[in-house]
Amino acid sequence: MTRRPGLSARLKLTISYAGFLLLAGALLLAVVWVFVLRHVPDEDPESIRRKFGGVIIVAANRTDLLRGFAPAAATTLAFLFVFGLLGGWILAGRMLAPLTRIADAARIASNGSLSHRIRIKGPKDEFRELADVFDTMLEQLQSHVTEQRRFAANASHELRTPLAISRTLLDVARNDPTRDQGELIERLHTVNTRAIDLTEALLLLSRGDRRSFTREPVDLSLIAEEATETLLPLAEKRQITLDVTGQTTQTVGSAALLLRMVTNLVQNAIVHNLPAGGTVTINTESQHNTSVLRVENTGHPLPPELVPTLTEPFQRGTERIRTDEHVGVGLGLAIVHSIVRAHDGTLDLTPRPTGGLLVTIRLPEVCPING
Ligand SMILES: Nc1ncnc2c1ncn2[C@@H]1O[C@H](COP(=O)(O)OP(=O)(O)OP(=O)(O)O)[C@@H](O)[C@H]1O
Ligand SMILES: [Mg+2]
Repeated sequence: MTRRPGLSARLKLTISYAGFLLLAGALLLAVVWVFVLRHVPDEDPESIRRKFGGVIIVAANRTDLLRGFAPAAATTLAFLFVFGLLGGWILAGRMLAPLTRIADAARIASNGSLSHRIRIKGPKDEFRELADVFDTMLEQLQSHVTEQRRFAANASHELRTPLAISRTLLDVARNDPTRDQGELIERLHTVNTRAIDLTEALLLLSRGDRRSFTREPVDLSLIAEEATETLLPLAEKRQITLDVTGQTTQTVGSAALLLRMVTNLVQNAIVHNLPAGGTVTINTESQHNTSVLRVENTGHPLPPELVPTLTEPFQRGTERIRTDEHVGVGLGLAIVHSIVRAHDGTLDLTPRPTGGLLVTIRLPEVCPING
């Protein structure tokens, strides 16, 4: 935005200081003048002398006084004005210095460098508070941008992998036409499915983040049942026992997204479980106007420091705990987190002391009658 040039804040403040000083000085002189006048008669010195019977006294009338007072008053006012200008300039400069630093920082940030911080020292005042708020904003902006860049880099990398594998498969087939076409098609199909899954996961993530979905009353316990039913064959294949318990609890949101959320959690609980004989417990309940969903599973012990990072996109846990053949994209929990946020809920991950994970989701509960 371009603006027409104007007086700087420093100059305006300086003029105001000097102006006020001049006004205060003039007022003071006026008071002095009025006070002095009360004691000076407005008479001719000759008549005063006569009044005092010819005694020789030094007498002056108001005109004489004004003649003596006016130049002194003018000099004082001129001095006050110059003093006001000088002092005002220095004071305003000192007062506005933090503002200059804030403006400099904003300019640097707008040029794309978010690593600069103002970091003004000294006790708290309005300017320092503004600078601190600005620093915090820059900090958050920088971490957000870094996160976005990492996400984009990871997403591109993940999308490139299946494409690169497809190309290798096609190259091999082209160079060796005698190879089994059926096997090639099968492998291409697998790779293609994975790429579609990944793209769908990315779309879902952005949908949750955009909050662009219609909201309707949803019974969380029904969603839990539906998700479990779909995943029953997977659980059976891995010899995992699924246990769904709990009461009806109504929240508001997108049924499709909430189903995806529970499905991701139950699928995780199955695939990141013990190799065989593990259990998964899914529980829903109402608690102080909150709909609570708990998904708990047995499994290998999880390092506590790793747990908070699992909701980050493309985080797949450590190699050591990835004992199963399931190779996910690492977007499952990121999608869950994004859906929970879009429904104004909270997500808690707690490693179980005996191994495995307890995931707790709290969503705002709605009364079924009110909808
Ligand atoms: N219920 C769980 N029990 C133990 N570990 C888990 C559980 N859920 C997630 N994890 C760990 O968190 C990591 C991230 O999970 P996330 O669902 O985001 O990705 P993923 O399951 O690896 O891949 P996908 O995108 O296919 O879901 C997993 O790789 C796993 O190490
Ligand atoms: Mg997963």
